[in-house]
Amino acid sequence: MTQAAKLLREGETVAFPTETVYGLGADATNTKAVDQIYKAKGRPSDNPLIVHIADIRQLNDLVAASAITSSHRRLMEAFWPGPLTIVFPVKEGVLSPLVTAGLSTVGIRIPDHPVALELLKEAGCPVAAPSANSSGRPSPTLAVHVREDLEGKIGGLLDGGPTGVGVESTVIQMVDDNELYILRPGGITAESLRAALPGKVVHEPQKETLHESEAPRAPGMKYTHYAPQGAMQIVMGDTPQAVAAWIQQDLDAAKLQGMRTGVLTYEEHAAWYQADLVIACGSLSRPETIARELYGALRRFDTEGITYMNAEACPEEGLGQAIMNRMYKAAGHSLVQV
Ligand code: TXA
Ligand code: MG
Repeated sequence: MTQAAKLLREGETVAFPTETVYGLGADATNTKAVDQIYKAKGRPSDNPLIVHIADIRQLNDLVAASAITSSHRRLMEAFWPGPLTIVFPVKEGVLSPLVTAGLSTVGIRIPDHPVALELLKEAGCPVAAPSANSSGRPSPTLAVHVREDLEGKIGGLLDGGPTGVGVESTVIQMVDDNELYILRPGGITAESLRAALPGKVVHEPQKETLHESEAPRAPGMKYTHYAPQGAMQIVMGDTPQAVAAWIQQDLDAAKLQGMRTGVLTYEEHAAWYQADLVIACGSLSRPETIARELYGALRRFDTEGITYMNAEACPEEGLGQAIMNRMYKAAGHSLVQV
C-alpha cells in the first residue's frame, strides 16, 4: 500500500479497487501523471476524469465554498463514501487541465472501499481515476481484467478482489440547487436521489434506445462501449417466453452459419437456452447481482471466442437503468423487439 501511494506521489499511475469498478489513478494535480492515464487507456482526451478524495475536507481545495449548496451537502451526507459522483464548478489552478478536459467543472467522489480509501489517504493528493480498462472495453471488476487490458502500461496494481457494485458511479449535476440532472446512471438509483432531495426535481438520464433497429439484423452501430468483440444485440418483448423463443431460433440460425453463439440471460431463464455459452448474469429478483456480474460476463464472451450473441433485456427501473444503459452501449444500440 505504502509503495502504491508512493508511486502516485511520484507521478506514476496505479490501478486500485473501488466499490464500483477498478480505477486507474494518478495525481490529479500532475499533468504528466494524468497524461499517462489517457495513454494507457487509449482514451480520447475530451472525456473528463472523475477525481477521488478520501475525506470531505479535501473538497475545499477543489471547489469554492460558495459553490457548495445545501443540496450538495445533503447528497454528500446521504451517499458519500459511495457510488455518487457530483459535478461541481472547479476552483481554477489546482487540478491539471487534462482532468477536466477543458471544462469549468469537475466530477468528484469519495469511494466506499477500504483499499481505495487507504490509498487516497496515504497519497494525500486528489486522485483522477477513470475505470481501469482499455477505452471501449468492459470496465474491470477483477484485478485480472485490469491485467488483461493494461499490463505493462501502468505503474502498479492493487488487487482487492472483486468489486461490489459492478457498474460505475452515478454522475449528477445540480442546476440552481433545485434541479438534479443524472448525467450517467449508476450505482445510486434515481429513486434514492429523489428520496434524499425531497421537493427538488430529479431529471432522469436520456434513455439509450436512440438507435433502435427496425429489422432484427440491422447493425445499429453508432458507437460502442464496454463492447465484446462478437456481434451483440439486445432482445426485449412482451413475455420472457416470447423473448426466449425468438432468441433460441435466432441462435440456431447463427449456429448453422458457423457462428459460435452466446446468450446473456438470468438465473431464472438460463435452463431455457442451448448455445455455445449461456451466461446466467445474476438474478432478475436481485438486480444488484446483475450489475455485479455484467462486465465479467461481457468479457467472458470474448475469452470463450463467442462471435454472435443475444442479451435478454432486464426491467429498466432502479439499478436496471444503469444496467440497461451499459447493455445498450455494449450492443452498439442494437435492439430487437419481439
Ligand atoms: O465508478 C466510477 O465512477 C469509476 C470508479 C473508478 O470511480 N470511474 C469511472 O470513470 O467510471 P470514467 O472516467 O470511466 O467515467 C467518468 C464519467 C464519464 O462519463 C465522464 O464524461 C463523466 O464521468 N464526467 C467526468 N467529469 C465530468 C464533468 N466535469 N462534467 C460532466 N461529466 C463528467
Ligand atoms: Mg469508463
